[in-house]
Amino acid sequence: MKKTIDISHEESLHQKQIMEKLSHSIKDKKLKYHVSTFGCQMNAHDSEKLKGILEQIGYIPTEVEKEADFVIYNTCCVRENAEQKVYGRLGSLKNNKKRNPNMLIALCGCMMQQDTVISEIRKTYKHVDILFGTHNLYKLAELIQTRLDTGKMVIDIWENHKEIVEDLPSIRKFSFKSSVNIMFGCNNFCTYCIVPYVRGRERSRKPEDIISEIKELVADGVVEITLLGQNVNSYGKNLDNPITFAKLIQEIEQIEGLERIRFMTSHPKDLSDELIEVIRTSKKLCNHIHLPFQSGSTNLLNKMNRKYTKEQYLELVRKIKEARPDVALTTDIIVGFPGETEEDFLDTVDVVKQVEFDNAFTFIYSIRTGTPAATMEEQVPEEVTKDRFNRLLEVLNEIAYKKSVEKVSGTYDVLVEHVNRQNDNLVSGRLGSNNLVHFEGSKDLIGKIVPVKITSAKSYYLLGEHVTK
Ligand code: SAH
Ligand code: SF4
Ligand code: F3S
Repeated sequence: MKKTIDISHEESLHQKQIMEKLSHSIKDKKLKYHVSTFGCQMNAHDSEKLKGILEQIGYIPTEVEKEADFVIYNTCCVRENAEQKVYGRLGSLKNNKKRNPNMLIALCGCMMQQDTVISEIRKTYKHVDILFGTHNLYKLAELIQTRLDTGKMVIDIWENHKEIVEDLPSIRKFSFKSSVNIMFGCNNFCTYCIVPYVRGRERSRKPEDIISEIKELVADGVVEITLLGQNVNSYGKNLDNPITFAKLIQEIEQIEGLERIRFMTSHPKDLSDELIEVIRTSKKLCNHIHLPFQSGSTNLLNKMNRKYTKEQYLELVRKIKEARPDVALTTDIIVGFPGETEEDFLDTVDVVKQVEFDNAFTFIYSIRTGTPAATMEEQVPEEVTKDRFNRLLEVLNEIAYKKSVEKVSGTYDVLVEHVNRQNDNLVSGRLGSNNLVHFEGSKDLIGKIVPVKITSAKSYYLLGEHVTK
């Protein structure tokens, strides 16, 4: 155990020395960087670390990709369209590089963990300078250094995580809220999903590292944190001193100054009664749980390797709602998984109607080469899937609207996030339930938690007014 600490500490010091060295040559040149992030919150959080490293080296952020001397794409491969977007954008970067031959282009993230992608980039996108994956992003400074020293394309992809490197710089998007990784990787191998292949096996961070990171964030003005992992409910199982996710939340809850705790994502199969008790009693956990169910058909859930039935999912939801009647539930749903029949689909619609989700991310099944589902027979024809997808959206929209309307006239605590993008007399923020609300107010409210009375509702946002309690 001691050894792991020493290695990662040593590694982080080594990287900081390289950042320091690079900064001497980069700072004076006033070079600009631009990071584009594809995919989930995990990637968004990784991008904050990439930005931290780039700014430490002396690069200055720019919103305009065309102006950037260093462009990095943090990629996603969960569905085919995520990959197509990256290839499309890469093509147009070629012209930017013609105008600015000294610019550097780096690609990282989940797509890079696939051999086929690396060969494609070597063959067709020779203007890319640096390629690395999900396990070694902390090495960005070193990879830049190698690129500058050799003048050649640098490729550094690891099969697996070697160690968790703590204590690297990071640039937060919001000053008042932040994500915190509690674990990396996934062991579940749902048969449609590529994530376990590109993110490696489950590894939990030590509770003391998580807690000291959150304490630092709170001292720096953060009031809301989101604990991140592909399956937070299995947090801590493989640590030398095992601890449950529920216990971790209870410890985090003690941190003074921290107001709100959220987490993403919960796998229904591992959501324990102990966690439901914490959901019942916690003063800081938000009344929002994202609980992907993917399909309402027990037969398909089995083929997806999800390890719960329709009935078990509904029972879990019943227990959560009983523990916390004001809970907002959101979910992920896949339409058109191989072999999905009309009856299977109607089971999905049935779960949606019974649970009454506040919001849902719906996805058309996308074949991912290398996953078991890719070679399953009976892939569903596109027009059938599209028709089901549209029917599902109609049901979801209707329910989301009904749930929003239920909030009208109620008063809720809202964390104000930014000035409204369309109307600068308004500010926008989120309820504990994660509903978005717009109301009249000035930018001084940003980062504050204030009571807002809801005056009207649309399916996916609310309007309200700032009140005094
Ligand atoms: N670990 C999280 C989800 C990560 S991926 C969980 O298990 O809940 C986010 C979502 O993408 C998944 O919940 C699933 O709905 C969707 N997804 C994953 N692979 C997919 C595929 N091949 N086609 C379509 N949607 C997919
Ligand atoms: Fe993918 Fe399943 Fe792991 Fe989520 S739990 S990341 S859907 S394999
Ligand atoms: Fe996330 Fe996409 Fe990777 S969903 S974990 S960025 S494949």
